[in-house]
This record gives sequence, structure tokens and C-alpha cells, in this order.
Amino acid sequence: MKTILTGLRVNSELTLGNYLGALLPMVRLANENSEDSNVNIFVPDLHSIISSIDGSLKENIFRSIKYYLAAGLELNKNIHIYRQSYIPAHSELTWILNCTAATMGETSRMIQYKEKSAGEKSVNVGIFDYPVLMAADILLYDANYIPVGEDQFQHLELTRNLALRFNSRFGETFTVPEETKSQVEFMNVEQGIRIRDLMNPEKKMSKSTLAENSKIMLSDSPEKAAKKIMSATTDSFGSIDFDFTTRPGISNLLYIEALINNRPLEEVVNEWKGNEHYGDFKKKVASSVFELLETFQKNLESVDDSKIEELFEAGEKYANEIANKKLFEVQKKVGLR
Ligand code: TYM
Repeated sequence: MKTILTGLRVNSELTLGNYLGALLPMVRLANENSEDSNVNIFVPDLHSIISSIDGSLKENIFRSIKYYLAAGLELNKNIHIYRQSYIPAHSELTWILNCTAATMGETSRMIQYKEKSAGEKSVNVGIFDYPVLMAADILLYDANYIPVGEDQFQHLELTRNLALRFNSRFGETFTVPEETKSQVEFMNVEQGIRIRDLMNPEKKMSKSTLAENSKIMLSDSPEKAAKKIMSATTDSFGSIDFDFTTRPGISNLLYIEALINNRPLEEVVNEWKGNEHYGDFKKKVASSVFELLETFQKNLESVDDSKIEELFEAGEKYANEIANKKLFEVQKKVGLR
């Protein structure tokens, strides 16, 4: 059985970028594949503490899982939901990988590490080691597919390298996750998903951007979100076309429209290509975003914490069994057992 696995940090409210880049693809893949694949959805709470957290961590952990349910996740016996910190094997495997497979050189090249540490006087070691913990999250479960946004692809490559290196040194131990090209194909998208900043579309949409109109938060009222789409930066070419290099703004809106409605990008592009009425197109995207948030927020209200508690209990029992078995194999290989 294949394993599909992902996690979302919820240090603060999520953006439409997190929703379209990771949450929605995971929900769609889970609903399509969970009859004959394991689907592991976990909360990377140990990753959360590498940076500051808005509100209470405990509340955010529950919120993370509510988001999947509100986005339409259909539960069944192959869907496993757990918290990273409740599975101690994640931390132990991280240490073993640190010592046996990860190198300072490779880990220092991670773009997220460079971005997060740039200009900081003091950087915690967790920020540096965060991709190795991410690799442990994946390798303990022999995961094949890891739906994430494009900004996490470099960490997936690192995970593959660590698995290959460990296997070649100690013998076949870990399943090497699929390469990014196959990940993208499996997600049924044309390219890695990177939703852009609405005001500065050269950059990715990020929760840490200060400008309100640059990002759509999942807690924005549908009206407010629709207005942000209407005021998004486009271009002065005079007619609609798709090209992320020369026209990132309009291309971002075309991509958002395709992802929300689960339509091939090419189909949406062909429908609007050459059209001179940018305003009409923006209205269409604004109404897609409006409907998405309206339904999502309504669903969110109806999920209660006791349901999530039950899911965690069952998921953590399962995850501990699988992860401890793999950890034991690793401990034996390196001579600890
Ligand atoms: P995190 O919490 O920073 O981001 C969560 C997910 O949202 C995606 N994302 C985007 N996708 C498209 N456009 C954007 N503008 C955008 N912004 C964010 C991210 O790519 C990510 O998929 N290390 C991970 C969490 C993690 C994990 C794992 C994921 C820990 N262990 C194991 C998968 C497997 C992270 O910090 O993502």
C-alpha cells in the first residue's frame, strides 16, 4: 500500500497559499486514494516551536486538523491523524540522521534556512535542523507521496538524499520518496504550487508579509477577500495571458481560479486568453474565492474539539506502532540495539 503524508504548521492563521498549495491538494488526494493507500495527516507541532506562535499552541494544533475537515476531508480507516510530539520516534530518528546522513554543507544550503536566518543576530539550532526533522517525519512511515507547496520541494530533495545515503551506508532501510516531478504529476497539477503575493506577485504569498492586501487569510470575511482579489496587481499588456515570468500577477489569478475549481490550468487559460476585460476576469476569481471561504468558514464552525481528540487518540496509537518499528530497525543498523 502506498503512503501519502503531509503536515502544516499552524503558528498563526493560514493563507490562501497554504490552502491551495497544501491543504486542498492533500484533501483531494486523500479522498481519491484512501481506499487503497495510507493517508497520514499530522501536526508538526515540534516544527511550530522553531518560531513564535500567535495564541495558544494547543488551540492551533486542534485548529490545524479542523481545517482539513472543513476543507472536505472524508474520514475512513486508512486516514491517520496524529501530533508529531506524541510520537517520540520522530525526534530520535532526527538525531540519528543528524549523525549518520545529514551534513552541515547541504543543510546550510536550504533556502528556507537562509531566509529565516537572514539578518538575525541569533538563530536557534532548530531552524537549521528543521529539514532533518521533516525528513524523519517522512522516512519513519516509508511515505511515497508528500503533497506540499513548491517552497518545500528542496526539503523533499534533502529527504531523498538522506534516505539514499543512509541506505547505501547501512543497507536498505527507508523507502525513498518519489522525486518532485512524480510528486507534481501525482498532485495532478502542471507545476509545483506557489501562490503569489497579490501586491508583489514576484514573491510568494506569505503569512509574515505585513501588507494586508498582499495576502488572503482563511479568516478573512469572503467580502474582504473578494475585494483583495479585485485590487490585485496585474499588468498593462492589455489582454490576458499566462506567463509567470513576464506576467506573474495575472498568471497567479489564473492559477488560483484553476485550483479552486479543480480545473486544468490550460483550460482556464484558454477560456480567458486574449480577453481585454481584466475586470471581468477578476470578478470571476473574486467570486470563486468568496464561495470557497464562505463554505470553508461555515464548515469550520461545525467541527468540535472532542472529535479531534478521538482522531488523535486512534492515530497516535497507529503512528507509534509503525514509527517504533522503523526506529528499532534503524537503531539495530547503527549498532544501538
Ligand atoms: P509550512 O507550515 O511552512 O507550510 C505549510 C504548507 O503550505 C505550503 N505553502 C504554500 N503553497 C503554495 N503557495 C504558497 N504561497 C505557500 N505558502 C505555504 C507549504 O509548501 C507547505 O506545504 N516543513 C513544513 C511542515 C512539515 C512537513 C513535514 C510537510 C513538517 N514536516 C513532513 C510535509 C511532510 C512547513 O513548515 O510547511
